[in-house]
Amino acid sequence: MERSSSCFFLFLVMGLMKVRCSADHHHHLENGSSTNSWTSNPRKLLVFGDSYADTGNLPKIVAPSWRKPYGVTFPRKPSGRFSDGRVFTDFLAKFLKINSPIPYKYRRYGYKVLQYGMNFAIGGSGVFDTVFLSANLTTQINNFKKQVEQGAIDLRSSTALVAVSGNDYVHYQDNGGTMEGLKTFTPKVIDQLKKNLECLRDLGVETVAVTNLHPVGCLPSFTRSSSYKKCNTSANDAVVYHNNLLEAAIDELNRDNKNGSAIAIVDLFNGFMSVLNKGGNKFGDILRPCCEAMTSNFHCGFADSDGMEKYTLCRRPDSTFYWDSSHPTQAGWKAVFSSLKPTLNNLLN
Ligand SMILES: *[C@@H]1O[C@H](CO)[C@@H](O)[C@H](O)[C@H]1NC(C)=O
Ligand SMILES: *[C@@H]1O[C@H](CO)[C@@H](O)[C@H](O)[C@H]1NC(C)=O
Ligand SMILES: *[C@@H]1O[C@H](CO)[C@@H](O)[C@H](O)[C@H]1NC(C)=O
Ligand SMILES: *[C@@H]1O[C@H](CO)[C@@H](O)[C@H](O)[C@H]1NC(C)=O
Repeated sequence: MERSSSCFFLFLVMGLMKVRCSADHHHHLENGSSTNSWTSNPRKLLVFGDSYADTGNLPKIVAPSWRKPYGVTFPRKPSGRFSDGRVFTDFLAKFLKINSPIPYKYRRYGYKVLQYGMNFAIGGSGVFDTVFLSANLTTQINNFKKQVEQGAIDLRSSTALVAVSGNDYVHYQDNGGTMEGLKTFTPKVIDQLKKNLECLRDLGVETVAVTNLHPVGCLPSFTRSSSYKKCNTSANDAVVYHNNLLEAAIDELNRDNKNGSAIAIVDLFNGFMSVLNKGGNKFGDILRPCCEAMTSNFHCGFADSDGMEKYTLCRRPDSTFYWDSSHPTQAGWKAVFSSLKPTLNNLLN
C-alpha cells in the first residue's frame, strides 16, 4: 500500500469499460457441478489480488517487501511477501495440500511446479489502476487467460483466490476522495470486482473464492494516532458497507448461475475481528505493529542514505499480530486462518 503517483480518476470512465471474457471457450465440467472427479490430481490454486496474497510479483527494486526485515521469519530473507513470513496464500495452499503456487513473474523457471497453479497477485493493486508497476485485477486475469491458452495451466481441480484488500480506497483517498463520496465509489469497486469474478468463472475455474475487506480501520496506519489503542470506526463502517455490497453481488452471481460453481466469500472481516477481540493472551498489545516506521513518511524496511534504519522492530514477531502499518505477521495470518478454517471446506470439494 504505497502512495500512488498516478492520478487518473478511473471510476469516471468505468461505465465505458468492458471486461471481455472468452464466452466461446468454456471449460466447465459437463456435469455442471463444482464437485470434481479428479481427486487424484492435486488441486491447483490460482491467486489474484494484492499484497495480502502476493508471494513475490512486485519488482525487487521498488518494493519494501524485498528488503530487510521482510521475510525474517520465513524464508529468513526477503521474498517479496509483505510480512515477516507466510501470507494468506501460503496458508490456503497448505490447507489444499499443495505447494504455494509459483509467482507469475517466475513462471519460466517453474514448469515442474505449475501443477500447483500460479500466483498473479501483485502488491499495491486494486480492481482499478492504483500504483505504478502494479497490475489491476483485469490485467492479472488476462495474464492468467494467456497461460491457459498456451496450455501452461489446465483448469481441472482449480481453485481461484481473489484478495482485494482495499488499495482502491487508498488510491481514492490519496486523490482527494472523501468519506461521503464512498457512497458512489464503493458500488463502482464492487461492480468491477463482480465482473472480474464472473469472468474467472466463465473461463472455467472450478471454485472461486473472494475475500471481503478486513477491518481496515484497525490497521496500524489508522490506529497510530491513538497509540494503537482504538480502531477507526468510520473507516470500519466504510468496510462494512463494501462487504454488504459484496455479499449482495455474490448472491446475485450465484443466483444467476445455477449450473456453474458457486462463488464463495472468505470472511476476512470476521476472521480478523475474532482474533483482534480475543487475541489479548497471545498477542499482547494487539494493534501495535512489529515493524514500526519512525515517522509516518517512512515505511518498514526503509533506511536513509547512510544505511540508518528508519524503523524499529519488535523482539517477537511470533507474538505480534500486525507486521507493518498495513499487513499481518505470519503468526497473525495463522491465527486468522485457523479461525476461518471451518468455513473453508467448500473450497476442498
Ligand atoms: C457426469 O459424471 C458421471 C460420473 O462421473 C459420468 O458417468 C457422466 O458421463 C457425466 N456426465 C456428463 C454429461 O459429462
Ligand atoms: C486495467 O489495466 C489495463 C492496462 O493498463 C487498462 O487498460 C484497463 O483499463 C484497466 N482496467 C480497469 C478496470 O481499471
Ligand atoms: C478515520 O479515518 C478517516 C478516513 O481515513 C479519517 O478521515 C478520520 O479522520 C479518521 N478518524 C480518526 C478519529 O482518526
Ligand atoms: C443450465 O443448464 C441447462 C441445461 O443444461 C441449460 O438449459 C441452461 O441454459 C443453463 N443455465 C445457465 C444459467 O447456464
